[in-house]
Amino acid sequence: MVDRAETPLNRRRFLSAAGLAGAGLATGALPSRAAEPDAAITDVQDWNRYLGEGVQAHPYGSPSKYEKNVVRRDVEWLTASRESSVNFTPLHALDGNVTPSGLAFERHHGGIADIDPAKHRLMIHGLVDKPLVFTMDDLKRFPGRVHKLYFLECAANSGMEWRGAQLNGCQFTHGMIHNVWYTGVSLRSLLEQAGVKTNAKWLLAEGGDASMMTRSIPLQKALDDCIIAWGMNGEALRPEQGYPVRLVVPGWEGNMWIKWLRRLELGDEPWQAREETSKYTDLLADGRSRRFTYIMDAKSVVTNPSPQAPLLHKGPNVLSGIAWSGRGRIERVDVSLDGGRNWRTARLEGPVLSRSMTRFYVDFDWDGRELLVQSRAMDETGYVQPTKNELRAVRGVNSIYHNNGVQTWFVHKNGETENVEIS
Ligand code: MTE
Ligand code: CO
Repeated sequence: MVDRAETPLNRRRFLSAAGLAGAGLATGALPSRAAEPDAAITDVQDWNRYLGEGVQAHPYGSPSKYEKNVVRRDVEWLTASRESSVNFTPLHALDGNVTPSGLAFERHHGGIADIDPAKHRLMIHGLVDKPLVFTMDDLKRFPGRVHKLYFLECAANSGMEWRGAQLNGCQFTHGMIHNVWYTGVSLRSLLEQAGVKTNAKWLLAEGGDASMMTRSIPLQKALDDCIIAWGMNGEALRPEQGYPVRLVVPGWEGNMWIKWLRRLELGDEPWQAREETSKYTDLLADGRSRRFTYIMDAKSVVTNPSPQAPLLHKGPNVLSGIAWSGRGRIERVDVSLDGGRNWRTARLEGPVLSRSMTRFYVDFDWDGRELLVQSRAMDETGYVQPTKNELRAVRGVNSIYHNNGVQTWFVHKNGETENVEIS
């Protein structure tokens, strides 16, 4: 993998789609080469000559040293402190639809809480018949364990792009997303155990970190599909992701997925916490704010090619990307190489699950011409991902959150790729 963007650039570039010809579907010779003398084959390499490391050299494994550039990265100027900050998933260097745990972006507001699971408690109280407290062992013995693959997208993902192309790489424009397997119990089963009073309509979730983050969640959602999760990709949650236990709120904005979860209170109205009033509301063009935009609408991005993963070869190339929707399954992804004039339908590969990241591919021949690469997702409800200008017509440019507009990458003749917008 090529990884050119060590630090993202600031840019605001608009291009017109005129004069760009599309590239063809893959028809040419496949990328192989005639067998000729090659030192990589004829010379004995060190790894042939010497024994490698034995077992137990790495009791907990890590990637090859040649993959050292495949890491989460932050944007230094974006936040004032490391404790209330964010880093980004290296989407351009990943494939498939599961985010490796060590590369899942982190977003926290008071640093990573260091919680001893033996001392951790989860309390349920408020409008319930019987207030309850659970230890981690209690949770793990609770009947009806669930195991699900869901995306988590921060509402602020792509938030820096409202006024034009800014950050040069899909890691930075789209990397506030991860898609991992969760193991836990349904929140519904715990609430049933406590007995929800008939006047309860909302639930407050509170984190045990220094930010003590709180969010109000409609009771109906809590009963539908929320999970109290302690497992991630088959092992314990990572500390960054809320060890020992977090709330999973499928399809809804990441901020509601309270980490280091310690308290659930049932009430009859929302609490109007900081994170649902001054933050995570959408400022509209006329100055009014739209609150409670919970669902993350359908969105997609081409991860290869992209600024950190330019085109290196003419001829056959594999275009790849990801799509997701908070409303259900991805139905279809269309890809354009000429800025939206012509579209072709991408191939969805791997499981296509509800509210989970879906991988798509298009095989194409690149003849060295300039490209304007875009992808557009459609979900099972028929919702189609809007262009950025369609979004701005409704939302204005003062927003931060919920930007699911179509992304454009400009591929230069030399294969280098940059973040642009088409005017
Ligand atoms: N929960 C607590 N307790 N503290 C936090 O700072 N950040 C929220 C949410 N849950 C946060 C939290 C935000 S804004 C997001 S986007 C997700 O956690 C990020 O989850 P991740 O770190 O697993 O990517
Ligand atoms: Co967030």
